[in-house]
Amino acid sequence: MNTPAAVIVDVAAYAQAVEDAVKASAAYYAGGTSVLDDDSYDRLVRGIAAWEADHPDQVLSNSPTGKVAGGAVEGDVPHTVAMLSLDNVFSPEEFTAWTASLARRVGHDVERFSVEPKLDGLAVAARYIGGRLRQLITRGNGTAGEDVSHAIGTIEGLPDELAEPVTVEVRGEVLMTTAQFEHGNEVRTGHGGQPFANPRGAAAGTLRAKERAYTVPMTFFGYGLLPLADTEQALAVRLGELSHSDLMVQAAAYGVNTTATTAVPGTTATSVEQVLARVQEIAALRADLPFGIDGIVIKADLAADQQTAGSGTRAPRWAIAYKLPAVEKITRLLEVEWNVGRTGIIAPRAVLEPVVIDGATITYATLHNPADITRRDLRLGDHVMVHRAGDVIPRIEAPVAHLRTGDEQPIVFPEACPRCGADIDTSEQRWRCGNGRNCHLVAALSYASGRDQLDIEGLGTTRIVQLVGAGLVADLADLFALTREQLLGLERMGETSTDNLLAAIAVAKAQPLSRVLCALGVRGTGRSMSRRIARHFATMDNIRAADAETMQQVEGIGTEKAPSIVAELAELAPLIDKLVAAGVNMTEPGATPPSAAATTGDTDADGEIAGAAGGPLAGMTVVVTGTMTGILEKLSRNQMNELIERAGGRSSSSVSKKTTLVVAGDGAGSKRAKAETLGIRLATPDEFAALVVDFVD
Ligand code: IVH
Repeated sequence: MNTPAAVIVDVAAYAQAVEDAVKASAAYYAGGTSVLDDDSYDRLVRGIAAWEADHPDQVLSNSPTGKVAGGAVEGDVPHTVAMLSLDNVFSPEEFTAWTASLARRVGHDVERFSVEPKLDGLAVAARYIGGRLRQLITRGNGTAGEDVSHAIGTIEGLPDELAEPVTVEVRGEVLMTTAQFEHGNEVRTGHGGQPFANPRGAAAGTLRAKERAYTVPMTFFGYGLLPLADTEQALAVRLGELSHSDLMVQAAAYGVNTTATTAVPGTTATSVEQVLARVQEIAALRADLPFGIDGIVIKADLAADQQTAGSGTRAPRWAIAYKLPAVEKITRLLEVEWNVGRTGIIAPRAVLEPVVIDGATITYATLHNPADITRRDLRLGDHVMVHRAGDVIPRIEAPVAHLRTGDEQPIVFPEACPRCGADIDTSEQRWRCGNGRNCHLVAALSYASGRDQLDIEGLGTTRIVQLVGAGLVADLADLFALTREQLLGLERMGETSTDNLLAAIAVAKAQPLSRVLCALGVRGTGRSMSRRIARHFATMDNIRAADAETMQQVEGIGTEKAPSIVAELAELAPLIDKLVAAGVNMTEPGATPPSAAATTGDTDADGEIAGAAGGPLAGMTVVVTGTMTGILEKLSRNQMNELIERAGGRSSSSVSKKTTLVVAGDGAGSKRAKAETLGIRLATPDEFAALVVDFVD
């Protein structure tokens, strides 16, 4: 987790390192963006600290280790109480050692800690006089900050008026959620500005900017509440006595946003083990959060412990930041590749100078579509901020515009399909080859024969390339017309392989409609949507007869998706006819068509067909995570979802308040943690199997 400190060999390297760090910090705090990403900055500062420990007589006065971090911009509004920074730990061992030193200071083991996410924004102090927000101040050098009251009214979670007319200072973090950041950069570049590289930089720049022609919303999370000079005596005394967790409850009661509103609310813990378990939970949820966190802050919860521990010049001794690995790194955008997918979509992909983020080497990042590239104002050769969290495909957040040299080149969009040379249909945001799904027939057929679709054993990509190359297959339906002689005529195709493949193709004809529909690769419908459509309509005839309005009766299909699905089914009509003629099954076992359901009263209030009326999972939304064991061991995730739906439930891939049950197998991580946080029922694979045993194939 802990990347090594930069190695500094001599006094000259030390001086250079201090200069680099000071420059990066100044650039970041003044302009909102730094030439170093967080990880590189941390490494540099740790290297500086290591060198200073060995050469205490040569420490430079402007070293970043000796002052409050980010003190480059000094403001003129004095803070009532210094706004301190936090010391860091990077491992359970370092954290345990910190608790031991804290225990020595306070004279006993700390009995209660508060544990909350370390929000990745910037600290501000909000002064409320008689309940009204009067002044907003940045941290500045910790002793005095800059007045940024002009931003009042643009920060969600920081109300203009509190629920009570109290005089208090609320401290906390101003940040941009991912959505606010993306919107913000769009607005900014739309006004001719340069994009911000990441949400934190965007929040810093936006907070300090005055008289902009546009406003970009930000979000506030409070993590401190203290009296001001004019605070009523009784309240001042009470605030001084409250534990941190109680202060947060009080702040929320005043109407201030706190982490209590998030999937990672602040909690308290009574042992080191509990703290470390909570650290793991928050870390596991990190990738799913709608805002950035760069660690977890652990505080002695009780006011008395905090007072006894006291503070140093830079940081309090009663709190520590448990840093998580960086999820953002700056690298260069070398090239943009244009790949044609199985449905004919031409998708851009960024080729990056390889960069290691949290242990993985990243070489590619997603770019959604040409409009996305234009909106982000990306250019070849740009330094870009790359974000990678959890298993999600890495994405480019934005170019680091101030690192531009002028040598960057525009990204050239293709004028013809890069695969087959056909014209490109640019009428939608995602460009598509004029030949549609015929452009990359091999990809379309590989997908169709895959395990979660028609599941045709022995029909891998190599074989498909052979079949298409030999001119035997020009679409999905041609697979079902293959003869023994044709197959035997192919290279490396013996009698046994031929018979096995023909048998597998024959079996595939009987796959349920949901899988056939999925195999067709209608854009916007993956596995679970195909199942929902098939269950709803029961037959392909019913699906084809549906207009956009009828299509919207299927859960998850809205006004945008419905017409495109209907249009695409019309485009696929000749192929579907051919599949019907080849004898491919076009019905969904166990599903009742809408008209029949209406007469038998089988629909619910929304006209939706119940999965399997009265099944053991009726009315439940189930999420599966981790590795399945026991009788479920061999089931793919898709087969698990099919099983859930056969048993009357709804399957989902993400845990939310709507989830009723989470089946957590070995190695379950963030989804299990989220279920625990939300208090959702958990089941082991065996417990779940017992519930649905009658429905297991
Ligand atoms: S407590 C005196 N709690 O992290 C204690 N800080 O690296 C100082 N931060 O300056 C602050 N989330 O800007 C605290 N839950 C949290 C925090 C948090 C983010 C920031 C804050 C602070 C910086 C220190």
